[in-house]
Amino acid sequence: MDEFELLKQEVETCTKCNLCKTRNKVVFGEGFRNSKIMCIGEGPGYYEDQQGRPFVGKSGQLLDIILDVCGFNRNEHVFIGNIVKCRPPNNRDPLPEERETCIPYLYIQIELIDPKIIILLGATALKGLIDPNAKITKVRGEWLEWQNRLVMPTFHPSALLRNEKLKRPAWEDFKKVVAKYREVINPNHISDYC
Ligand code: URA
Repeated sequence: MDEFELLKQEVETCTKCNLCKTRNKVVFGEGFRNSKIMCIGEGPGYYEDQQGRPFVGKSGQLLDIILDVCGFNRNEHVFIGNIVKCRPPNNRDPLPEERETCIPYLYIQIELIDPKIIILLGATALKGLIDPNAKITKVRGEWLEWQNRLVMPTFHPSALLRNEKLKRPAWEDFKKVVAKYREVINPNHISDYC
């Protein structure tokens, strides 16, 4: 078994925080193992907890549409993970101690996948990975650098579902990701709409 599979096995049997008591399934993350792009969300919701897969509910369907428009998909271009791997009860925000306990798993995932571009979906991902005091409304759409990787913070798809007005700026953010992907990874990348 390789390092990635060993990590998956460890995460899927983790009992380091209280979320293990209420979870149905651990959501390790999914996508192309050697993706150049990694999307990071907050944590599993109801459907993710049922299926053990990230972003499969309504916001996941929107994320898949956005990725598709950009010419990306989970099989070839993107790995999708979360700050916490188990569902917080009633979809509450993950607690600071839950985030702190879980984030080392994300660090190892990033190291093993080795993406050049990281898309942070929403405030929890931004605060968890970059800076607990950062504001998503302030930094979204601006390239950040983290451990020699390019980081694009943008709104969480669930925010786009709640507020239509955020869709336009989020789309601008994803267009920047496509342009950067062409610049640093594949100049021949094809997408239907941008
Ligand atoms: N929202 C997230 O942040 N992550 C998921 O996996 C699903 C919904």
